[in-house]
Amino acid sequence: MGKFGWGLLIGLLTFPVLGAIYLLSGSAPAAVTDHPFPFERLIAGVALGAHIHRDAPKRDLSSFTTADIIAGADSYRKGCGGCHGLPEVTRVRPEPAMYPPPPQLFTPDGYVTDDPVGVTYWKIKNGIRMTGMPSFEKLFTDEQMWQIAALLANANKLPPQALDTLKQPLFPPPPPPPPSGAAPSRPAAPKPAK
Ligand code: HEC
Repeated sequence: MGKFGWGLLIGLLTFPVLGAIYLLSGSAPAAVTDHPFPFERLIAGVALGAHIHRDAPKRDLSSFTTADIIAGADSYRKGCGGCHGLPEVTRVRPEPAMYPPPPQLFTPDGYVTDDPVGVTYWKIKNGIRMTGMPSFEKLFTDEQMWQIAALLANANKLPPQALDTLKQPLFPPPPPPPPSGAAPSRPAAPKPAK
């Protein structure tokens, strides 16, 4: 083998060998709070984006009614707000509890209003591999997933009723405790007939 052949061989082997040493050394990130892998976000982001844009169905945003967006708000409140936040309730969890952290979809930093509605629908339906983003295909109907996607596409200009729906408490407040010292409740005595 000539000088060129050896050079090529060494060159070809260096990267996988160094990569294996790095992975086996235990210094690669594993915990949620670890630093990201070299190029992790870039590689994952580009591959994901290319795949989704190829597969996502297309639908015109103008085909959704205000009623659709309000229905989407109700589903979102129940299925998504805990991770992705609600209007005026950013960062439900102060510290990142998962890596990558869920974007806060009702803040300017997290808006997906520039994405085609079909792309957001695809993410809701299929989830995002190797992240905390679940697939909702079995939890919501197809139309519900489209309605949520339409809600998020309009996140920066929501109709007031959708905002009201998003702000409803998730659980009704518990009934007030009985006044202390009160006698155990008994059915009220019937009123004497007049
Ligand atoms: C258990 C937490 C969790 C729940 C519940 C959840 N998600 Fe996510 N979601 C994530 C995480 C984590 C990511 C970030 C993935 C990434 O960075 O690639 C994400 C990403 C997304 C994205 C992509 C954002 C972007 O900037 O491209 C959208 C859209 C989304 N989720 C919508 C939803 C909707 C709608 C629901 C409810 C039907 C939902 N998610 C429920 C954790 C969650």
